[in-house]
Amino acid sequence: MFAFAPDPNQPKSELYADLVEAAQALTRDEPDGMANMANLAALIWQFLPRLNWAGFYRTVDGNLVLGPFQGKPACIRIASGQGVCGAALASGATQLVPDVHAFPGHIACDAASRSELVVPVWRDGQVIAVIDLDSPEPARFDEGDAAGIEALAKAIAPAI
Ligand code: SME
Repeated sequence: MFAFAPDPNQPKSELYADLVEAAQALTRDEPDGMANMANLAALIWQFLPRLNWAGFYRTVDGNLVLGPFQGKPACIRIASGQGVCGAALASGATQLVPDVHAFPGHIACDAASRSELVVPVWRDGQVIAVIDLDSPEPARFDEGDAAGIEALAKAIAPAI
């Protein structure tokens, strides 16, 4: 239905600007947050190469519950402060982890994951969800990816 055609060779800043624009186009006029997260997970999966998991955990009663995603089945509930995702919720800060084996308490949902990027989604002063990206490549994500996913999180916060 929607044909987004990311060019993997374009500069990262342009790739993420296109991703944000596509995300806004995809969620515009749709009030159902779960449907929007499902499409956004698929969009991220389509745009970003070298991932083995991409999706959302939602904040429910102060902890995280699995939301829409692409990749292998994952742990359903993550307590605040637990693992990389729980650290993002507890601190409200982006977690850029070049080597998941070196992160204390990392939760291995997929044994293939080697690096991870988790970005909190803020709305009305609360972290309402986190965007979690995993890669089988060590150090797959850098500051450019973190800035890009932070821009995405800001753009889609009203829609999820
Ligand atoms: N690795 C995450 C758990 C979620 S999965 O990667 C999908 C963590 O440590 O929080």
